[in-house]
Amino acid sequence: MHDQEAFLAAIQNGYTFKGTHIKIGVAMLDGAVVDGADVNLPLGMMNRHGLIAGATGTGKTKTLQVIAEALSDAGVPVLLMDIKGDLSGIAAAGTESDKIKERYQLLKETYKPAAYPAELLSLSQEKGARLRATVSEFGPVLLAKVLDLNDTQAGLLSMLFKYCDDKGLPLLDLKDLSRVLQYAGDEGKADIEKDYGKISTTSTGTILRKVIELQQQGADQFFGELSFEVADLMHAAPDGRGMVNILRVTDMQDRPKLFSTFMLQLLAELYATLPEEGDSDKPKLVLFIDEAHLIFKEATKVLLSQIETIVKLIRSKGVGVFFCTQNPQDIPASVLSQLGFKLQHALRAFTANDRKDIKQTAENYPESTFYTTEDLITQLGIGEALITLLNEKGVPTPLAHTFLISPRSRMDILSAAEIDTLTASSRLIAKYNEATDRESAYEMLNRKLDAAAAQQPAPAPEAPSGGTARRGAAPKEEKSWLERAINSSAGKQVQRSVVRTLFGVIQKMFK
Ligand SMILES: Nc1ncnc2c1ncn2[C@@H]1O[C@H](COP(=O)(O)OP(=O)(O)O)[C@@H](O)[C@H]1O
Ligand SMILES: [Mg+2]
Repeated sequence: MHDQEAFLAAIQNGYTFKGTHIKIGVAMLDGAVVDGADVNLPLGMMNRHGLIAGATGTGKTKTLQVIAEALSDAGVPVLLMDIKGDLSGIAAAGTESDKIKERYQLLKETYKPAAYPAELLSLSQEKGARLRATVSEFGPVLLAKVLDLNDTQAGLLSMLFKYCDDKGLPLLDLKDLSRVLQYAGDEGKADIEKDYGKISTTSTGTILRKVIELQQQGADQFFGELSFEVADLMHAAPDGRGMVNILRVTDMQDRPKLFSTFMLQLLAELYATLPEEGDSDKPKLVLFIDEAHLIFKEATKVLLSQIETIVKLIRSKGVGVFFCTQNPQDIPASVLSQLGFKLQHALRAFTANDRKDIKQTAENYPESTFYTTEDLITQLGIGEALITLLNEKGVPTPLAHTFLISPRSRMDILSAAEIDTLTASSRLIAKYNEATDRESAYEMLNRKLDAAAAQQPAPAPEAPSGGTARRGAAPKEEKSWLERAINSSAGKQVQRSVVRTLFGVIQKMFK
């Protein structure tokens, strides 16, 4: 048996904070809850990112739900990446089951059910506001990463983006990009080469093929207008609680690469859009990525290093990122080392490899005279976890075996009818769900080429425009086409190109 008084003092000393904080449970010693040993999270440190790890069914998603609720209560908006589709219940009030009653008796608290203000978002056809980005905003650097281009191909892609920028050809969706690649490898080749340098048709062919592959992964649904403004994630409900934005990405499970790219784009856009925050008593926005191993699975080295970098940088914008995953080893060490909050649910030791992982996980937590961490990790009950975090001075708190509170909202999903009710009143759906396909590179190039083709077969004696029947090179027609293109190019594109520039900078820094 351990010294209970010393333990209580250590926990109270470690987990009492001056600034805004939330209680997520009570610490346990020798298998029992210790009265008064509250485990709190200081909101001011939530932009230092976090990890929620543990085997399947040990309580990761419910812990995420508990923290997200508390943030919303504190007026902080959150974005939940709902990969398994089990988070929608946060929009409905929970019910007090016998198990919850028992839990709250041990916690010496009353259970107060509550529904949270929520918006559903989607990258595809699922119900919710559509999150899209234009190819142009996505930018050539990131796109080259997704497409796995070599340096030559990436260089060519950047050049074609520049060409489209210069000529006012909006690159909205992948259809536009494909058309430009075709054009550059064929009818437009000579014309573009005049001002922009050599084009290898092998390269345009390869890029084109990879774009088609990307389309086959369903990326078409994500690229296009109306592009999502990240400020729309930052709203508060009329009662002052932070909005809970639930991005339903169940269809991303088998497309990890697309998902990691999307995450990177989102983080970069947040970084580029939000102002620098000084020390603040609470974060601006917290992202929770459930089943986060998907982001790192199949991500290339370059993509990984960019995720690392942006995770590091975005802290200064008041944005916290919480990764939920089965095994901490799923997260690259360089990202893991940046996380200020660590919460470990139970791990199971089936194989020698499991035992090795558990040992390593235990070593990554502060040493404790009260626990044998390595053993305890395998013995934690459901809804219990080991916790350590950075306190307000940036010093790690003592390890706390914590009995966690339960979500106040429903620990299950919404029914189809409830989802319909929720989406019917959505502010964001009203704004984003009309797919637009304004005139962009695809239509413009087609029109230009149609016009040229229409001229070509004309039996030459007197062509109306002054005789030039050479394909795609009539100077007069060229001018009006350009003028039209420039007039219709979006002003927003310019603002958003900040994101692109950022990637250029990051890439240079890490070359
Ligand atoms: N904090 C908690 N309070 C009450 N029950 C919990 C809690 N955490 C987990 N549970 C129970 O355990 C089940 C599995 O939890 P879940 O969070 O879905 O696990 P994971 O995400 O790790 O697979 C839940 O459905 C719930 O019954
Ligand atoms: Mg889960």
